[in-house]
Amino acid sequence: MKTLKAVYGGPGPSRMRRAAMLRRLALDDTGLERRLRSGLEAAEKELAAHAESAEDPRIADVAGHLAAAGGKRLRPLLVLLGAEFGDPWKDGITGAAVIVELVHVSSLYHDDVMDAAATRHGVPSANARWGDRLAVLAGDLLLAKAARLAADLGPEATALNAEVAGRLVEGQLHELVGPGAGEDPITHYLRVISGKTAALLAMSLRIGAQQAGAPEQVVRALGEYAEHLGFAFQMADDLLDIKAPTEQLGKEQGKDIKAGVASLPVLLALADRTPRGAELRELLSAGPVGPAEQRRALALFRRSSALAEAEAMMHERLDLARTALRALPPRPALQALVALCDFVADQTG
Ligand code: IPE
Ligand code: IPE
Ligand code: MG
Ligand code: MG
Repeated sequence: MKTLKAVYGGPGPSRMRRAAMLRRLALDDTGLERRLRSGLEAAEKELAAHAESAEDPRIADVAGHLAAAGGKRLRPLLVLLGAEFGDPWKDGITGAAVIVELVHVSSLYHDDVMDAAATRHGVPSANARWGDRLAVLAGDLLLAKAARLAADLGPEATALNAEVAGRLVEGQLHELVGPGAGEDPITHYLRVISGKTAALLAMSLRIGAQQAGAPEQVVRALGEYAEHLGFAFQMADDLLDIKAPTEQLGKEQGKDIKAGVASLPVLLALADRTPRGAELRELLSAGPVGPAEQRRALALFRRSSALAEAEAMMHERLDLARTALRALPPRPALQALVALCDFVADQTG
């Protein structure tokens, strides 16, 4: 039997990370393994078809660019795992997997414009290739396609999709406007990532379970788990920006520092009262920085306590995610959800 790794084990940084994620699931249930493999394959085909479904090939090229370039497909995987808590053969599960990935990919088009990012998935970002205006509109188009597909699934999916797309954009807006007067920066950060990351991970598990007809209390527990996982996932991503090389990430190392993004390690470093903290504060508090400052900040980070503090916060969230799983009935998919917590933790190790 072809393994999940064989399905997605091709070259390219995000395919490597995808293969690592799937390997980490360590499934010992062949039925589940087969369903996930065929579910991911089906979602992949439909994703490409929807992302590239513009009449004008020049628009199809822009809108299909990032989905074709790669991505781990964590969110479609969550949909399929959620469906395991009901009847995984029901209609609408592949559609749900495509919806959440379209929303995710759309957010990457917008996020790369916000960060003036040059690379994504190991290839030039859409904004680098076609400019900001086309990239923003391509992101909008993908969001519209997701909304259309959600309408096919019914009012519950339509409402969930609209609510989560709103939370995601509000999270991004909060990141841009920064903390309110007197607001603690870490509290503000948690609000940002609740919207921009956790909401969509929670939607993914919930919509999969809903489409499969799982009981409401199961849908709720899955959503709670995925919200915590989403917080931890974003914290890990923030850490990787500092710790992982560009070749591994498929996006530039230190991009958050360069763009002046208030990531978790950056916020913790700003609060560091040592001389190293003072130098980092001077480098980072001025917003976007040049390549020399970016290199210096990365070097200072390697010796600062901010990374370990951020990791501890990530582990707290992973513990909360594991605890939320206790409310779920035993299923082979439950083991995969536990393993996803380990995957997030391992990434930053
Ligand atoms: C990146 O998400 C954006 C965040 C929410 C941190 P992923 O790491 O899941 O993106 P892919 O796998 O490259 O699509
Ligand atoms: C991702 O956060 C959030 C969304 C794309 C909505 P990041 O800004 O950390 O994502 P990367 O690091 O650019 O992938
Ligand atoms: Mg970004
Ligand atoms: Mg990031």
